[in-house]
Amino acid sequence: MRPGPVLIEPEAHAPALVRLWNASAGIEFPLDERLFLQQLRLDTDPRCCFAFVEPDGSISAAALVKRASRTGPSGTVPATGYLSWLVVDADHRRQGLATSLLNKARTWLSSLKATSLRFGSDHYHLLPGRPMEQGAGYKALEAFLGKQGFVGEAEEYDLMANLATSAGPAVEPAGTNGRFVYQPFSPDKQTAVIEFMHRNFPGRWTHEAVEAIAAGMRPADLMLAVDTADGAVAGFSRIYDGSSPILGPGVYWRSLMGSNPGGLGPIGIDASKRGAGLGQGLLVHCLHELRTRGVDTMVIDWTDLINFYGKSGFKVWKRYEPTSAPL
Ligand SMILES: CC(C)(COP(=O)(O)OP(=O)(O)OC[C@H]1O[C@@H](n2cnc3c(N)ncnc32)[C@H](O)[C@@H]1OP(=O)(O)O)[C@@H](O)C(=O)NCCC(=O)NCCS
Repeated sequence: MRPGPVLIEPEAHAPALVRLWNASAGIEFPLDERLFLQQLRLDTDPRCCFAFVEPDGSISAAALVKRASRTGPSGTVPATGYLSWLVVDADHRRQGLATSLLNKARTWLSSLKATSLRFGSDHYHLLPGRPMEQGAGYKALEAFLGKQGFVGEAEEYDLMANLATSAGPAVEPAGTNGRFVYQPFSPDKQTAVIEFMHRNFPGRWTHEAVEAIAAGMRPADLMLAVDTADGAVAGFSRIYDGSSPILGPGVYWRSLMGSNPGGLGPIGIDASKRGAGLGQGLLVHCLHELRTRGVDTMVIDWTDLINFYGKSGFKVWKRYEPTSAPL
């Protein structure tokens, strides 16, 4: 009988794990070691990587599993576990390997009092949900998760536009009457930005911003809308190009995006200042900024706001189904 899955240290096995991923998903989601290691090194959630290691040392199947440890919007840590990703090499499928990996994950997560398991959407994720791609491996994943009791939610999208060919709307935002200016983050704004994030976007987006600043985010990769009336931060947008020191989700799959890739997201406006064109204004400003940096193909990740971004020429590129199961 085949020995069961073992615990491996994913950083130490990065080349083999990236190879395993790319053999199954490399056409649609070409993973490179830089991104794989970045996501592991920036994350602090407790995690386990379970794998089947063959006698020759190759890895035939693996899964990365995490237990949420950061507070959600309510201020408490959710009892959530994540199946960040799961891959079984094509030659080893339908032998129960994925089932064994998931059983290990469930046991570990239950010992940490998690009550639900989400596919993807973890902090420092690679996927916001189950990829809705064509192809045998993705169809197998859908069938497997269905059999395991996962239930899907409303679709999310990565949107793409080519800045070189999409004209986009005029630069001046409608309705804001010059009251707001757009400027990159600077250290003197750090306290104001974090306070703005806590007030308007408690939970994930706040943690991401705080952690990115601590990890050495390039100031130009966080664009702010500032109210000239009182200097208050009124909006934020994370942006990326090919030379961003921290890769954001919009440029994860940059090898599919030509030589000048860019990304944007998340973007958010102060709750009391919405509905006046400020969001569109900040978005359009960011697109001009990225165009100035030479970006042509760019992606806005993990959103359902097709109409909002559609005004700037963005169209659906990739589709995901957020999905979860009770533990
Ligand atoms: C989905 C996947 C993990 C399943 O791995 P596996 O080891 O073959 O799965 P199991 O043998 O444990 O399958 C358990 C059950 O899931 C279902 N299932 C798995 N593959 C299936 C398929 N191709 N069609 C229909 N049902 C399937 C079946 O109910 C199966 O039970 P059965 O074999 O007794 O009928 C594998 O196909 C895979 O790695 N796909 C690619 C995933 C990918 O791209 N990952 C990268 C992003 S996360």
